[in-house]
Amino acid sequence: MTNQTGAAGAERPIGIFDSGVGGLTVLRTVRERLPHEHWLYLGDTARLPYGTKGPETVSRYAVQAASHLVERGIKMLVIACNTASAVAMPTLTKEFAPLPVIGVVEAGAEAAVSASRSGHIAVLATESTVSGGAYERAIKARRADARVFSQACSLFVALAEEGWSKGPLVEAVAREYLQPLLAEKKRDGLDCLVLGCTHFPLLKETIAHVAGPEVTLVDSSETVALAVEKILRKSKLARTAGHGDTGFLATDGAERFARVGSLFLGEAITVQDVELVDL
Ligand code: DGL
Repeated sequence: MTNQTGAAGAERPIGIFDSGVGGLTVLRTVRERLPHEHWLYLGDTARLPYGTKGPETVSRYAVQAASHLVERGIKMLVIACNTASAVAMPTLTKEFAPLPVIGVVEAGAEAAVSASRSGHIAVLATESTVSGGAYERAIKARRADARVFSQACSLFVALAEEGWSKGPLVEAVAREYLQPLLAEKKRDGLDCLVLGCTHFPLLKETIAHVAGPEVTLVDSSETVALAVEKILRKSKLARTAGHGDTGFLATDGAERFARVGSLFLGEAITVQDVELVDL
């Protein structure tokens, strides 16, 4: 199935998964760039958050989510969740070979290295992503002299889920998290900040305001879209005409998925659009 090329292969959807609705920010960008493709999005809402869990648990969840999508005949897998990408990318690539697997961490590192002149880069992410050090490794693999500062920003996830992206409370939280990085900016010329979590693009405006104009914010979803496009072209699996469909799967709470998910996707999702699945 995964080796299928040509028209039949191209008709299959691209699978994309996240721990919840956050990955819809990634889906939004990739869909805009690749409007002909069909998408199948899975949010593991029953087990969210991944960002506070240990690597074995996150890996197990990621393999289960990916297996479900593979069983439905996807032609490629996008790991939209930074935590799952950081922890389980090698496992998923090996487990599902030859299915192409693209993770947001590699894409984010690529984008950060292109955006930074000084090579002093900050990564904002969940606790698990930060403690595993995957961003730091991925950035240094591309630029050996890079200096990477990582900051766990768990509260940003909750704020985005509440739909709070601006205002004094969000700004105060952002200042608190960014304070050590801003000191680094003055001292060492930190010039790039990676939004290393699915939820953070929603707070982009506030984070940019607090970080200041000389710091470039990197949202990896554009780079993910480019990587998907490149692989589709190379493997002759691109769907080249017609408007693509999107299917939504969730492991719990169809109503919440539709309500909060609409915010993240920037487009209405109805409860009827969401299919509940058991992994
Ligand atoms: N999707 C997660 C990430 O990008 C954030 C939410 C969670 O902790 O599950 O890291």
